[in-house]
Amino acid sequence: MLTISQEVDPHLEMAALIHQLGERPVLFRCAKGSDHTVAAGICSSRELVALGLDVPREGLLVTLAEALRNPVPPQMVAAAPCQEVVEKSVDLYKLPILTHLPGDGGPYVTAGVAIVKDPELGRNTCFHRLMRLDETHFAARLIEGRGTHTAVQKAGGELEIAICIGNSLGVLLAAAMSPPPGVDELCIANALLPTPLVKCCTVALEVPAEAEIVLEGRITRQLVDEGPFLDLTETMDIVRCQPVVEIKCITHRRDAIYQALLPGGLEHKLLMGMPREPSIYEEVNKVCDCVNVLLTPGGASWLHAVVQIRKRNPDDGRRAIEAAFRGHASLKHVLIVDEDINIYDPAELEWAMATRFQAECDVVVLPDQPGSSLDPSALHVPGVKSRTAKMGLDATIPWRKPSGALRTEQERAAFHKVRYKAA
Ligand SMILES: Cc1cc2nc3c(=O)[nH]c(=O)nc-3n(C[C@H](O)[C@H](O)[C@H](O)COP(=O)(O)O)c2cc1C
Repeated sequence: MLTISQEVDPHLEMAALIHQLGERPVLFRCAKGSDHTVAAGICSSRELVALGLDVPREGLLVTLAEALRNPVPPQMVAAAPCQEVVEKSVDLYKLPILTHLPGDGGPYVTAGVAIVKDPELGRNTCFHRLMRLDETHFAARLIEGRGTHTAVQKAGGELEIAICIGNSLGVLLAAAMSPPPGVDELCIANALLPTPLVKCCTVALEVPAEAEIVLEGRITRQLVDEGPFLDLTETMDIVRCQPVVEIKCITHRRDAIYQALLPGGLEHKLLMGMPREPSIYEEVNKVCDCVNVLLTPGGASWLHAVVQIRKRNPDDGRRAIEAAFRGHASLKHVLIVDEDINIYDPAELEWAMATRFQAECDVVVLPDQPGSSLDPSALHVPGVKSRTAKMGLDATIPWRKPSGALRTEQERAAFHKVRYKAA
């Protein structure tokens, strides 16, 4: 990990430097105006995530899918590193919160994982970007219809919240998952890596004991303008009316490290997309034999997926398209390929399209679907779920001839790439 000892300003300078360094892991020892060290880029590649979970890169999908399928309740502890220091006199200006770009609405916490309790479903854990307003307040972006938003609505507009900054890889990955309603993301985190919990000091919530910094407070009924802010698609997200969060207590480790995460960067994309791959994998496996799933970086690791299947029936490709959309509601385009295609190589994906796909019969178009709030080309109406068209492309070897008759196994084999022998 690269360590920078010179003073770096969290206002515009630090984000530019993180970007310039290609988001490699970096520790800023001296953040201007704050006593906290800042870490960035800690899970900016699949290799780093695999290292952190102690699994090979190719094993990530199955590891995440298993944790999603088998959550493990975390152990409760009485004393925790995240409560070594308790500050009831809150001053958010003491935290090295980055202003990333000149056009931003303000300084933003970007790696904050929020924990709330849904009155019916129990604990919900989710990332929420937070725009600092003053010493004790943030504006929080709560995507409509997701866990935190629906919990606040059920609670009548106000709800206790704990925001953890500087989390384990298990917590970061689980917080980005959308498991079925009522499944606790912290149990998924605990299935990935041991995640003991501790009771908060001023709110009736539990947080990961190993977190670096915890902000305890309340989501209020007050609404303010939130944004503009760079989002996952590397385009500026619009200004919206969002709830104000009031912070009443800060607890932290004695030598707490503040985590920074570049909006629209590699880490943002990886953390958003990778935890959705097991959800797609699980759904596709219900209808055919799924081998692998990739949310591609060109699709902002959110809107485009490649699904690799072991085809056993002529219609498996089409079934996989429908299942992939069920597995990730924000997915806009999906490409289905066979197991001989290297899904990490864009040229091979294009080759599969070029040699196995006919637009007349291998495209599924679904008009006017619920879609992602992050897609600038979708239809966005304030307070209402965004609408979009969706498309699935089946680039698997066609088992039917244009006449409709089935191809023999030998005829299907003719679609495989002929490889030169190694010299
Ligand atoms: C780095 C990062 C930042 C995110 N920022 C937000 C955000 O500001 N607001 C939001 O509602 N979701 C945000 N998300 C997405 C949620 O974490 C994700 O949709 C979550 O899985 C929703 O879970 P839920 O449906 O259980 O609430 C972010 C995700 C990541 C990885």
